[in-house]
Amino acid sequence: MTDNASDTPKPVKGQGQAMWGGRFTAKPAELMQAINVSIGFDKRLWAQDLAGSRAHARMLMNQGVISSSDGEEILGGLARIEDEIATGTFPFRDEYEDIHMNIEARLREMIGATAGRLHTARSRNDQVAVDFRLWVRDACDRSAGQLAALQKALLAQAETYADALMPGFTHLQPAQPVTFGHHLMAYVEMFGRDASRFRDARARMNECPLGAAALAGSPFPIDRQQTATALGFDRPTANSLDSVSARDFALEALSAASITATHLSRLAEEIVLWTTPMFGFIKLTDAFTTGSSIMPQKKNPDAAELIRAKVGRILGSLTTLTVVMKGLPLAYSKDMQEDKVPTFEAFDALELSLLAMAGMVSDLTPHTDNMAKAAGAGFSTATDLADWLVRTLNMPFRDAHHVTGSAVKAAEGLGVDLADLTLEQFQAIESRITQDVYAVLTPAASAASRMSYGGTAPAQVRAQIARWKEVLA
Ligand code: ARG
Repeated sequence: MTDNASDTPKPVKGQGQAMWGGRFTAKPAELMQAINVSIGFDKRLWAQDLAGSRAHARMLMNQGVISSSDGEEILGGLARIEDEIATGTFPFRDEYEDIHMNIEARLREMIGATAGRLHTARSRNDQVAVDFRLWVRDACDRSAGQLAALQKALLAQAETYADALMPGFTHLQPAQPVTFGHHLMAYVEMFGRDASRFRDARARMNECPLGAAALAGSPFPIDRQQTATALGFDRPTANSLDSVSARDFALEALSAASITATHLSRLAEEIVLWTTPMFGFIKLTDAFTTGSSIMPQKKNPDAAELIRAKVGRILGSLTTLTVVMKGLPLAYSKDMQEDKVPTFEAFDALELSLLAMAGMVSDLTPHTDNMAKAAGAGFSTATDLADWLVRTLNMPFRDAHHVTGSAVKAAEGLGVDLADLTLEQFQAIESRITQDVYAVLTPAASAASRMSYGGTAPAQVRAQIARWKEVLA
């Protein structure tokens, strides 16, 4: 059949509810349409909708539910629709409410009444469930891929600066010297767990709801394994009610996104701090900073600030969808149409953040001299002195802690670092201290001594870098 087939009902603008309008005599109020219409946002599901329709049409043909000539006509029409969407000529129309009915209406315009056979043994309820699952599955895959790219950017910097000393903080107070490489590798670990959360979520969601139809399944001899396989799912979902009413796959993906965004916000915050003149730990190039319209000297880390803020939007989306789903009776309710906007928004924000963070990490250069200087400030090797007292003089750690406290107090009083105390000054506090103590009081010695598995010693950091390089290869 062709475009001008005479049995094709012409859509009337504002009255195009032909898909379900059989029992209706009046058209919906404009406000009803306004609140109901979703094409403005669910058009983003077009590729998934076409994939689902293709799999369904082929299965109906294989099962003899529709004839192969009808099936081929449908598949031909769907291919033309794909072309139209790809070339921007497809008419997305509000009067057809959502992506499913927009595509079906267009198919009808193209091939006539045969288009109506595509919806055999299917409902928009399982249709949207499969479309959205496919979209969220792709989003999880993209996020995991972008996380891996970010990890690689961090690894490259960590390898270059595996020995570069910086202060390690607790309470944002200088605590013990660490290396910049070690600090960056902490984020490689976090982002690795984030990626694995997306992979876990993907594995759990990878069951195909298509064939659940409206809610109860179908009386037609459909083969749900076939459509599941065609769409890359591991198996069909096992309960038709659950199939059309489950959105926990999206909640899980949004949870993973929220945790990732939380990690991103922590790194973003550190970049904001480190680029201040007061820290002076790193610099970003013009590519990842912006100027001020009034203060000519300013170079602001706006990308980092925005990444720090995006967690609000992403976690907000998780909250939104959780509240939408809470207390919904089985099976489908239109409430669930509200699943898409927050999910799309969250992943748009997350993907942009991941890309921008990877860009910023590659862009940054540490001021290693400033970092190294800060690494020794604040009596950061006090623990090393205490450990030396334990190891060399066999002191109980608590006593060593006390002696070290006295040494810190003395140095503070004199306005010098621990390593600047003379041997006489040390011995006035603890007579058994020898010249050897100075070897453990430098930040480099402190870091190098922390050879415990996962510690900050450059050799340990390099071992972790090597492991991650293999994991990410
Ligand atoms: N646009 C709808 C959604 O996103 C599709 C499913 C509509 N189903 C229905 N029975 N009205 O949820």
